[in-house]
Amino acid sequence: MDKLVITGGRRLDGAVDISGAKNAALPILAAALLTAEPLEISNLPTLHDVGTMLRLLERMGVQVRRDEGRVALQADAVTSLEAAYDLVKTMRASILVLGPMLARFGAARVSLPGGCAIGQRPVDQHVKGLQAMGASIAVEQGYLVARIERAGGRLRGARIVTEMVTVTGTENLMMAATLADGTTTIENAAREPEIVDLAEVLVAMGARIAGAGTDRIVVEGVERLNGARHAVMPDRIETGTFLCAAAATVSRHRGEVVVRGVRPRTLDAVLDKLREAGVALECDADSIRVTANGHALVGANVRTSEYPAFPTDMQAQFMALDCIADGTNRVTETIFENRFMHVQELSRLGASIEIEGNTAIVKGVPRLSGASVMATDLRASAGLVIAALVADGETTIDRIYHLDRGYQAMEAKLTALGATIRRVAG
Ligand code: EPU
Repeated sequence: MDKLVITGGRRLDGAVDISGAKNAALPILAAALLTAEPLEISNLPTLHDVGTMLRLLERMGVQVRRDEGRVALQADAVTSLEAAYDLVKTMRASILVLGPMLARFGAARVSLPGGCAIGQRPVDQHVKGLQAMGASIAVEQGYLVARIERAGGRLRGARIVTEMVTVTGTENLMMAATLADGTTTIENAAREPEIVDLAEVLVAMGARIAGAGTDRIVVEGVERLNGARHAVMPDRIETGTFLCAAAATVSRHRGEVVVRGVRPRTLDAVLDKLREAGVALECDADSIRVTANGHALVGANVRTSEYPAFPTDMQAQFMALDCIADGTNRVTETIFENRFMHVQELSRLGASIEIEGNTAIVKGVPRLSGASVMATDLRASAGLVIAALVADGETTIDRIYHLDRGYQAMEAKLTALGATIRRVAG
């Protein structure tokens, strides 16, 4: 297993280009199953999770032609309607093939993902929604076995009220509804920008969707979908991660970092909290500049919640900032029940954090000091990288494969900004 070795205390200076969004790319790739015609996707990030989704689609018989940041997919000769455990267990987002497969082929067999490092993460809302659309779904040998028993083998439109706001649940149901008979309404829908990006692709494919980006999405089913071209939106979580890395280093060592190719409007809650924490930011249409303002970081209380509130996927990175800010701040996690695995590792670097229920109370310390730490999930790893960039001496982060799942070339991007960071093969 590869490790990252980071020598802290270097000034970061320069510009960094943000890649396509992982959590937009994954559902968009799954949408290729909805049509026999080619789907051409650009600004595709180079990530392990993207590789896993492409392998999953290839195993089903989807043709995949990939060229750097582009991929052409064609599902005109699908041979298998199964998503096997060996791939699903490495990436929960594999569940995103369920809705499209069922809607187009009338059957699907998808392994249940099981628990993961950040919580149990059930998929009951995906299942209930598809059942409301006429699917029969049973669990057999660890697999969700879904079929449509209606004459004609098509899903039917339904009014679905999800019990909680679920991002991939909304995506699965929206995709399934595009090929259903009649109109589907998804109430309590997730409003994440990635859902809007997916809806744009589906509409380009001929789907009839209104309300994506609001909590009520209405989909009028169509007979068939066609091919389309689409560029994946920029990754708002990668953007936020680099902003936190810049904020941490700029506050200590000055420097100036510009994060380019971004959509600042998708980051309102994160930008507000960074400003509140004492970070100087300047936004353009597609870039954000972090500069030293001579003031110390004061940190901020954050509470994760569904979009447009502060994202759970930025919680660990912001906590790293609070660790080195003046004062005491509270970080409350409301989306996942076990997303504080990084707390113990940050403490190994000298952070002062206490957990009370779903809140971490972070007392800023003047210095962190390098140590060996373990990455436990994707965003936890990013939080550790940020802490390591300002810690005295050397930090070794083990199990860095978590980072490779969701950050394209993170160490190359940080090196270009002036960080001292190297990968050591394990
Ligand atoms: N939930 C249920 N039942 C369901 C679905 C969700 O109980 O059927 C619960 C979950 O356990 C969780 C909450 O509802 O407590 C919200 O989960 P959601 O379904 O929204 O999460 P997700 O769709 O599985 C996506 C992202 C995550 C991100 C969350 C929350 C993708 C591929 N993944 O997951 O991204 O944290 O939304 O915003 O879009 C990451 O990129 O590091 C990551 C974990």
